[in-house]
Parts: sequence; C-alpha cells; structure tokens
Amino acid sequence: MSSHLKVAVFPVAGLGTRFLPATKAQPKEMLPVVDKPLIQYAVEEAYAAGIRHMVFITGRSKRAIEDHFDTAYELESELEAAGKHSLLELLRSVRMDDMHCSYVRQHRMLGLGHAVLCAEHVVGSKPFAVLLADDLMVGQPPVLAQMGEQFARLGRSVLAVQEVPTEHTRRYGIVAGKPIEERITQIERIVEKPAPEAAPSRIGVAGRYILTPTIFNHLRQLGTGAGGEIQLTDGIARLMADEAVYAYQYRGKRYDCGSKEGFLEATVELALQHAEVGPPFRHYLRQLALGD
Ligand code: G1P
Repeated sequence: MSSHLKVAVFPVAGLGTRFLPATKAQPKEMLPVVDKPLIQYAVEEAYAAGIRHMVFITGRSKRAIEDHFDTAYELESELEAAGKHSLLELLRSVRMDDMHCSYVRQHRMLGLGHAVLCAEHVVGSKPFAVLLADDLMVGQPPVLAQMGEQFARLGRSVLAVQEVPTEHTRRYGIVAGKPIEERITQIERIVEKPAPEAAPSRIGVAGRYILTPTIFNHLRQLGTGAGGEIQLTDGIARLMADEAVYAYQYRGKRYDCGSKEGFLEATVELALQHAEVGPPFRHYLRQLALGD
C-alpha cells in the first residue's frame, strides 16, 4: 500500500443545531473564525499535508461550501477593476488550481461512520484522511502533516488523540492501549462517548484520522451504535481485529468549534495572532474591564 496520502474526506452534512439560528440557512462549516470559514482551515490543513484531492460529504443546504471552493468570477473581476489586489490574493489563497474537489451527497443523516462510507466509491483502495471541520487544529507542523509522517512510518491507521477531562468522556471516542513509543499507542480498546465511569481512559479522539481502506469493509457491516448512529468509532474497533491502529498524541491545540465556548476561544486566540487585527484587538482586550 502506498504510504503517501492523496485524499481527504470532509464530512459536512451535519445540521449544526448547536449554532441555531446562525445555521438555519447556512452550513455550520461556513461560520468564520476571524475571517476564514471553519471548512477552509481544515482544507488548508489537508493541503499542507500534501493532499490534493478533497472529498466533501455534503447534504441539503450545504451548497455554500461548493461555491466557496470555486472561482468567484464576478467578485474577482470587480476587485481587479477596483485595483484591490490584496483582497484578490486573499480570495485566491485557496489554491483551487492545485486541487480537485469531489462532492458526495449523504442522503440520510445516519452518523459519521455512514458519512465516511459514502466516500468509498471516490476514495477506492487508497489510505485516506478524515477531517472534522468542527475541530479547528493549530499546530506547527499542522496536525495532519504530523500524522502523515507517522502514517508513512507505521503504514497503518493513525488517530489524533489528546487527554480530556474525566467529565468530558461523553463527548469523545475514548481509546486505551499499549504505549509503543513517545506519543504513539497501539489501540486495544476504543469506545464511543462512554460515561466517565465506563471510560477505559481519559484519552479522547480529536477529529483527525488517517485510515486504511480496510475500514470500508467494516463500516458496510455496521448497525447503529451510540446515539442510534452508525459510528466511525465502531468501525475502527472492528478494524483493530484485522490490523494495528495507532493513537498519536499530536503537538498542537484543538478548538472544539462545535461548541459555542470552543468557537469563542478559537475566535479570541486566532484574532490575537492575526497580522491585521491582532495588535489592536490585544489592546482592546487589555483595556476591557472584566468584572468577576
Ligand atoms: C466525533 C466522533 C468522536 C470524536 C469527535 C472528535 O463526534 O464520533 O469519536 O471523538 O468527533 O471531535 P462528534 O463531535 O461529531 O459528536
């Protein structure tokens, strides 16, 4: 199997109910953190890992995502005519000429495992990455590129993990296994969203996966799991019977932009690092009198 990753899958069909009413008529993946939609952060991360084929698993009312990863002719010619070159550059920061995008509709919301299975006919028999745009990952090198390095070495599936607070195990796939090197554990158990007392550890899966295509055989056979959904976690649990699956403790930070709090944290921290708004925003925060 080639150890070079070429394809990334972005499950983006979810409804985004936690951000209503903002997500009533627009995809949650298009919500901007400072000036860039969540999905663009994820696509840029995949691009930085050397991936050039982006596969979006979309659903109804997600068309804005397709438009975002396309040329905006009218806008570009208006900006060109007005001599607004720096804005044009921003618009072209998504390297559309250097990547392919495929769109697959997920007709029914049957869960993350089902969404990934919808990509099978596009991905074929190659290893692939899965990026959940809700999880905004900041790392140097970018988190998926770090995982790609591990995958190239290990030749087996790699999941990004981090330690989570005991009271949050219900939010994650939780893994346990045997540590084999610094930052690498061979997974022996993986459970989707267990209660703290049932969790095998406090090591939670973040929304970045590199999977071998064998996963499709298992996803095809799965019934519903936690929350009545077809869970990617359950497919991974079965994959472990065929081949090793590794957890990689990434270097970097994850913002849970599926929650309002995580979204706000990402907004504040990325705004502080932003070349243009960073310095004045820092000044603004300093003089903001926050009562307790
Ligand atoms: C999904 C996965 C879960 C993983 C999480 C990471 O859950 O099912 O195993 O830990 O993403 O963000 P979701 O957040 O979509 O409910």
